[in-house]
Amino acid sequence: MDEAFWDTMYREKDRKWSGNPNPTLVAEVSGLRPGTALDVGCGEGADAIWLAGRGWRVTGVDVSSVALDRAKQHSTEVEWLHLDLAKEPVPGTYDLVSAQYVHFQPKEDMLELHRRIAEAVAPGGTLLIVGHDPQEAHRHAADKPDIPHDIFFGADTLTSLLAQNEWTIEVAETRTLDRPDHRMYDFVFKASRRSA
Ligand SMILES: C[S@@+](CC[C@H](N)C(=O)[O-])C[C@H]1O[C@@H](n2cnc3c(N)ncnc32)[C@H](O)[C@@H]1O
Repeated sequence: MDEAFWDTMYREKDRKWSGNPNPTLVAEVSGLRPGTALDVGCGEGADAIWLAGRGWRVTGVDVSSVALDRAKQHSTEVEWLHLDLAKEPVPGTYDLVSAQYVHFQPKEDMLELHRRIAEAVAPGGTLLIVGHDPQEAHRHAADKPDIPHDIFFGADTLTSLLAQNEWTIEVAETRTLDRPDHRMYDFVFKASRRSA
């Protein structure tokens, strides 16, 4: 699942841009004091733009230039960067690092991205990773038979990437999200890095 895969996905996507941020981002970040933020796999940019509107200094990173070209049309306030974070280093440290629904294969690369983005959280900062819960695997396999299924992660995987003495895990749970036509299950992981 490389840049070409994601570019094709965005080109084929005929849905109109909603501009709405992910609800879990809104719920988990609204109480935090704004600082610097990195939106990993920012796609067309709605989350990054929402953060910027609340006083965060935001960098949005994505491997897809098609997605980023669209994001740039919606905001010049966010710094948009074209990077593959499974292969390239994260440029800096941030008070908030958020990754919303960033799943891909090979799984080792996805976990490498998780490791790198956790490292990019500044002391005292917050890591927020939201993904489709592993129990979505069956629906995913039925709806998207062409896309690999081994793209899920849960609490054990994410916790194992963090040095225990540096982090406080605040949330590691499955949440339901009701869409008009079906119920979705999300996995929400939020951890704060202890101050040095
Ligand atoms: C399912 S989309 C989610 C987009 C957005 N976060 C949202 O919630 O709407 C996953 C995004 O991750 C990006 N992505 C996948 N692998 C990546 C990587 N290695 N480095 C940076 N971005 C990546 C894709 O291009 C895509 O925009």
